[in-house]
Amino acid sequence: MLKSTLLEAVQSAADEVRRFIDLDFKISNKEGVNNLVTEVDHASEKIIIDTIKKNFPDHYILTEESGEIYQDSQYKWIIDPIDGTVNFAHRIPICCISIGVEHNGKMILGAVYNPFMNEMFLAERGCGATLNDRPISVSKKEKVENSCLVTGFPYTYLDMPNGPLEVFDRLIRRGVPVRRLGSAAIDLCWVACGRFDGFYEHKLNAWDSAAGFLLVEEAGGRVTDMKGSPYSPYQPGIVATNGIIHNELLKWVNNEI
Ligand code: IPD
Ligand code: CA
Ligand code: CA
Ligand code: CA
Repeated sequence: MLKSTLLEAVQSAADEVRRFIDLDFKISNKEGVNNLVTEVDHASEKIIIDTIKKNFPDHYILTEESGEIYQDSQYKWIIDPIDGTVNFAHRIPICCISIGVEHNGKMILGAVYNPFMNEMFLAERGCGATLNDRPISVSKKEKVENSCLVTGFPYTYLDMPNGPLEVFDRLIRRGVPVRRLGSAAIDLCWVACGRFDGFYEHKLNAWDSAAGFLLVEEAGGRVTDMKGSPYSPYQPGIVATNGIIHNELLKWVNNEI
């Protein structure tokens, strides 16, 4: 029931997002230059919330655009109605719907769906991770210098002077390919399926990483904060890898290499 509700919510929201890619839609600015939100983000979020409430009226819901619907529940749904809004607003088909479900503070289910590539990433605690129903696993790369990495940058980072650019600069000076897709949830899923060997980002919110975290773990990878402590969706920094390069990538992001 939990999983079917998750899939129903993701698929119905995705239908709405897909429908709008060739239509006009309203784009507004949140705080921060080019921090966009579209009417489609709101429409997607409404569909997801309605679907959850219909099936689980007493569950706790946390979303990017509407905030919290607090309920004293063991279950918490963590929702990003469009991850990659700037891409979507520019009609770049790299964006997704991302939903993670926590039970007693542990992520137990995660789904990330890119409707434009028709890629559904799904993970269930203890049952592995899949892409369009096929099992996926992380890569086997052993060194950062042979890896293909991905990162993201906050909308503005006047409040955190050089961190993200310093790490990026050192990596690319040494010739390590570092991509920037513009959707943290997809970044994590692409680590889970081995397209990328590692991902790091300095400042994310719970809805950006909740589902993708479980995808990486269930695909055999490792996810921590930037110091190597256990991942929590409620702290900003994240490092996610195939596990093998994890300690080395932690050194890179902490300027120890
Ligand atoms: C953003 C994306 C992006 C990341 C930003 C996020 P949004 O989410 O995940 O990749 O770099 O930090 O805010 O705003 O498109 O949902
Ligand atoms: Ca997001
Ligand atoms: Ca979003
Ligand atoms: Ca946003």
